[in-house]
Amino acid sequence: MVRDSACDVVVVGLGYVGLPLCAAASQTGLAVVGLDVDPDRVRAVNAGEVVADDLSAAAMGELLGAGFEATTDHAVIESAQAVVLCVPTPLSDGGGPDLANVRAAARAIAPRLGRGQLVVLESTSYPGTTDEVLAPTLEAGSGLRAGTDFHVAYSPERIDPGNPVWGVANTPKVVGGLTAACGRAAADLYRRFVARVVATAGPREAEMAKLLENTYRHVNIALVNEMAVFCDELGVDLWAAIAAAATKPFGYQAFYPGPGVGGHCIPIDPNYLGYKVRTLGYPFRFVELAGEINQRMPGYVCQRIARLLNDAKKPVNGSRVLLLGVTYKPDVADERQSPAIELARRLDELGADLAYHDPFVAEWGWAPTARPLAREADLDRAVADADCVVLLQAHAAYDLARLAATAALVLDTRGAMDGATVERL
Ligand SMILES: NC(=O)c1ccc[n+]([C@@H]2O[C@H](COP(=O)([O-])OP(=O)(O)OC[C@H]3O[C@@H](n4cnc5c(N)ncnc54)[C@H](O)[C@@H]3O)[C@@H](O)[C@H]2O)c1
Repeated sequence: MVRDSACDVVVVGLGYVGLPLCAAASQTGLAVVGLDVDPDRVRAVNAGEVVADDLSAAAMGELLGAGFEATTDHAVIESAQAVVLCVPTPLSDGGGPDLANVRAAARAIAPRLGRGQLVVLESTSYPGTTDEVLAPTLEAGSGLRAGTDFHVAYSPERIDPGNPVWGVANTPKVVGGLTAACGRAAADLYRRFVARVVATAGPREAEMAKLLENTYRHVNIALVNEMAVFCDELGVDLWAAIAAAATKPFGYQAFYPGPGVGGHCIPIDPNYLGYKVRTLGYPFRFVELAGEINQRMPGYVCQRIARLLNDAKKPVNGSRVLLLGVTYKPDVADERQSPAIELARRLDELGADLAYHDPFVAEWGWAPTARPLAREADLDRAVADADCVVLLQAHAAYDLARLAATAALVLDTRGAMDGATVERL
């Protein structure tokens, strides 16, 4: 018997992915409950605090005003029509995804699963996770059959934090069900709050689609990063070359060099595919090469800073180096895996007198042992005091023309600045 559902969807894991999903579903009238194992997160969410970049205080207020509530009590599963898992899948020591949170969440919800319910996994992982890990764990704990008694599907999260145009509601949603009926159930759920649902043959194709998207970015960023290194030696302005190539109306998409890749997706997710390919006995060479090139970029940026200072007859040791923008992408507060951390560690090792500014980060440290620095309170003064200013993220709040006009020396790793004292990566 299909149980009577008091709530349309329970979102498990209230982070960067789960909360925007709650908001999008709630906005179209679905009854949504949030479930998290972290009582602090649940308290903060219920208090309307801003805990994810894309949900402002007003959006949190709207979500709570619509009847949304967060809880640590797994009993809510029993009243739900659908359960969507958005729990973290960090990189494990073995290079693959650590699926402990997925397993733990599945074990906790399994005893409460009922016939006709839908369980969707949104966490990023390698192809096979939904049918090899999630479905068997749910079956073992519920005594029910996946695909027969309840529905299971995979739908990758494609959120781009800080993107003002593309959000949950207007980014096409890829959905792959364990069976055709599972796929239909998941598509029906997402169609209620996402404009376009794209069905794949099964969960593995949906899992692979997500990894293909991120691997594509990872590899193309590595391509231009490698080119940035030799273009400097060849005396070629790569930024101008990219701008010229980008005028081609077909067959080319512009990617830009930078100080390295960061965040939870690009430096991590392609490894999940590399890990799975290694089980076949051979490497995924593109991913491994891209990883190697992108990881070297903070070290290369450090060398370029040393060269700039050297040209000004200054050693790195004792020079004031001001890092601007320490998050992993512009206009978000997320510092996870930011290449700024490795760059700061290297500059610190060379004896640089480090300072930083970031409108989104009030306090910042680059190693477990390094004492966190407070953000420079007066940006103009910090720029005037610096021997070298390094633009790592071109946050919209920065007046780049003013920075270029007032700084003694600038290394611009984003190709966003011009001026006599500015050198681009
Ligand atoms: N952040 C992004 O931009 C992004 C984009 C696409 C995909 N993803 C993927 O989405 C997934 C979630 O990432 P995130 O960035 O939202 O993580 P996050 O760390 O921001 O939030 C995860 C939340 O899940 C909770 N949690 C952990 N284990 C739990 C459990 N067993 N039961 C209930 N709650 C649990 C944590 O307490 C936390 O609040 C990951 O697989 C990630 O790779 C993230």
